[in-house]
Amino acid sequence: MEIISRSRRLRSSQMIRDMVRETRISKNGLIYPMFVMEGTGIQQEIPSMPGQYRYSIDKWMKALEEVSRSGVKQVMIFGIPAQKDACGSGAWREDGIVQKALQKAKQEFPNLYYITDVCMCEYTSHGHCGILDGSYVDNDKTLEVLAKTALSHVQAGADMVAPSDMMDGRVLAIRRVLDQNGYVSLPIMSYAVKYSSSFYGPFRDAADSAPAFGDRKTYQMDFHNRKEAIKEALTDVQEGADIIMVKPGLSYLDVLREVTNQVNVPTAVYSVSGEYSMIKAAAMAGYIDEAAVVCETAVSMFRAGASILLTYYAKELAQYIQEGRIG
Ligand code: PBG
Repeated sequence: MEIISRSRRLRSSQMIRDMVRETRISKNGLIYPMFVMEGTGIQQEIPSMPGQYRYSIDKWMKALEEVSRSGVKQVMIFGIPAQKDACGSGAWREDGIVQKALQKAKQEFPNLYYITDVCMCEYTSHGHCGILDGSYVDNDKTLEVLAKTALSHVQAGADMVAPSDMMDGRVLAIRRVLDQNGYVSLPIMSYAVKYSSSFYGPFRDAADSAPAFGDRKTYQMDFHNRKEAIKEALTDVQEGADIIMVKPGLSYLDVLREVTNQVNVPTAVYSVSGEYSMIKAAAMAGYIDEAAVVCETAVSMFRAGASILLTYYAKELAQYIQEGRIG
């Protein structure tokens, strides 16, 4: 039999495989999510996320030093307040946990880039992502507090804000407030395509943000839907989002590819807590090769179209890239 096309020619050595590689990844596209809390001297391991911690601000500085050394340049900050209330007022206080953490971090590590998650669920006593009207999360009332929160993060030093609440119109509401206050150049990364997902379970332990009743299905997306993802993404671009995020990652690579093809802004993907915990648990049980699986899954998300990856494995990935395991 005569075979003309032989795919194996381009696989015959590491040299040629490296040359023809279609997806190249860099440390520049990694964002490391971290949790900060009130108190001092605290570095608490999150039980469902071995290797990830909640830090008081002083300990967080030590952790940031390590991030800085790893070559990861961007961090996403989640705050865990000491007290919660019905309207989540801890989210926009000048002396709120995120605001205080940012001020300190910007002083100590001005070379890192700080992105804040803008949402109410860590700050509300009921754990929902907005202001309640009975048991319903009131969209338009929530927009006001989200905009206030985003502005206070920026005033405390945030380099970028990332609304994750899934209220309609939040990107526009935040854009307006930032612009009115002179922050026209401050970018917004929208969690535009955020599914209602069980993969957030470990995060809700970490941030103590599980809803006290019901679920998030009246605002987060139904995982059966794909066209709706395009609608959400296009709407947010129109409202002024500079980067569109798809979340979670692994079960949504089809959506990530489709959204990437449809929008004219960079796409980010969030490999969420449950994805981290599954890999970590399997690795701890000795069932898989952790580094190899982390590399393969990370590359799959870039291959599916992401320019930016939010991952709890950011520091490790930076190291694997440095070592040439992937790249
Ligand atoms: C806040 C928020 C959540 C995550 C990021 N921002 C939780 C949620 O929506 O319940 C999840 C991140 C993760 O699971 O790693 N709304």
